[in-house]
Amino acid sequence: MNKIIISIDGPAGSGKDRIARYVSKKWSFKHLDSGILYRRIANLIYKKKLDPFDKKNIIKLINNIKELSYRKHKNLRLEKISRIASIIAEFKYLRDFVNKQQKKIVKRINKKNGFVIDGRDIGSVVFKNANVKLYIDVDIHIRAKRRHKQLIDMGEKSIYRKILKDIKLRDKKDKTRINSPLVIPKGAFIIDNSSTFHSTQNQIIKIIGKKINVKY
Ligand code: C5P
Repeated sequence: MNKIIISIDGPAGSGKDRIARYVSKKWSFKHLDSGILYRRIANLIYKKKLDPFDKKNIIKLINNIKELSYRKHKNLRLEKISRIASIIAEFKYLRDFVNKQQKKIVKRINKKNGFVIDGRDIGSVVFKNANVKLYIDVDIHIRAKRRHKQLIDMGEKSIYRKILKDIKLRDKKDKTRINSPLVIPKGAFIIDNSSTFHSTQNQIIKIIGKKINVKY
């Protein structure tokens, strides 16, 4: 039997991760955060002090990776890693590698109910045949405020204006890049995550509950 795939796409700071965790728990899906894979490579680049624009050395680095871990780690969320991840995510060779890794992970892990996968191109490129596609939308100022609070809570220094500028820049990069730009995937349901999480849950329960015919 094919595993059920739920794709969740959306811009930086839209709350995809929290929503994916919620869906994963509620319907017993395994959760794969594809951004972690980009961040893991970014972290390697940072540690090895490579230039994130140096494609030749990045290819070398990738070719030596057999399997990327999709385990989360709070260090992967640091701004310096976010910045590198956003640069390397434009690189086609690297995207193809990450996409293959995602398919490998989904194939390898035996979870009978399937996967919820979040990212920027899951429903549009990596898992075009996902059973349910969600696209998360949140006003940019709300996203910046939430991110600012998250960084402060993590003990990082954060200036709201800088965070807003960074998010704007990341949105622009994500939406205008040549390779797999962030788009609303065909057939995706748009979820507004600007209000309370309770309201988001209600929107999701309606969509997923109906689509995959699971009682809740
Ligand atoms: O979602 P997150 O912020 O963790 O993603 C880290 C970086 O990886 C982002 O800059 C984004 O551009 C990139 N990314 C991507 N495609 C994905 C997931 C993340 O380009 N499917």
